[in-house]
Amino acid sequence: MSFVTPLWPPQASAYAEQVDRLFLGFSALTVLLVLPVFILIGIFALKYRRGRDVDRTHRTRGSVWLETSWAAGPFLLVLGFFAWGVALYVDAQTEPVGALEISGTAKQWMWKFSHHPGGQREINELHVPAGEPVKITLTSQDVIHSLYLPALRLKQDVLPGRYTTLSFTADRPGTYALRCAEFCGANHAVMGGRIVVQTPRDYAQWLSRSGADKSLAERGKLLFRQYGCSGCHGPASSVKAPDLAGLYGRPVSLESGETIIADDQYIRDSILFPHRAIAAGYPPIMPTFRNVIEEEDLIALTAFIRNTRAEDWREEE
Ligand code: CUA
Repeated sequence: MSFVTPLWPPQASAYAEQVDRLFLGFSALTVLLVLPVFILIGIFALKYRRGRDVDRTHRTRGSVWLETSWAAGPFLLVLGFFAWGVALYVDAQTEPVGALEISGTAKQWMWKFSHHPGGQREINELHVPAGEPVKITLTSQDVIHSLYLPALRLKQDVLPGRYTTLSFTADRPGTYALRCAEFCGANHAVMGGRIVVQTPRDYAQWLSRSGADKSLAERGKLLFRQYGCSGCHGPASSVKAPDLAGLYGRPVSLESGETIIADDQYIRDSILFPHRAIAAGYPPIMPTFRNVIEEEDLIALTAFIRNTRAEDWREEE
């Protein structure tokens, strides 16, 4: 089913269809529960209106069975819809394996996207292949924004200082709206663009046309030198700094005695706030890169660290 009106955006995924089914089902249930009440209000208002000669004595005829059933019935029905909603939510939150990775950065008032494997970058446009799972990791450079893709029935808040993710599989090629759904300042209303869902073939063509010469990780590798990270964290460095090769995804023991998993968030925070979570056994001598490195570059640096295994590292020198 699909009604294309301004209030009912097109469905670009199987998930969107399911959300609509839930929405229509719940609307129907609401009508079903509310309609008898309104009909009775009308009937009684007419029947007992002023001046009518009807029996107004108040007879009490209690029935526990009736009372219970009209409370329990709607409750169970609504609970069923709650379970249905939870199932869809869990579905949307589950990260697909082998998803195509894209990073998104929001700032007043634009969206920037980087495609990890090819390094292609775009602004206010997002190209994705149809039928393939996509995972977007999002962060904001300033205030809270929200990435809203109506045709996919998905919305995810985008927060400064934190990574959030949005996963989906778009099925139907086409061009759909991409918006910001969180009031973020004077130009919030125009902060948006389009998501272009392409057949895998068109997408491959788009990738090669928008030719970036480096993958995101390769760009990160360059930045690793430019920002001077390699001076301390490089294999040949004489400074006692943690070895970053093969670090990603592994547990790190901290000076505080805690253990933390080296994920995107940890790596980002370590660059910006190096004294917050110090790796056990290392002196707290790293300078902060706050207000020096932009979110987009942090993403590239993290992509580099993630892709760097110990062997590649040695080859470096
Ligand atoms: Cu960004 Cu509203």
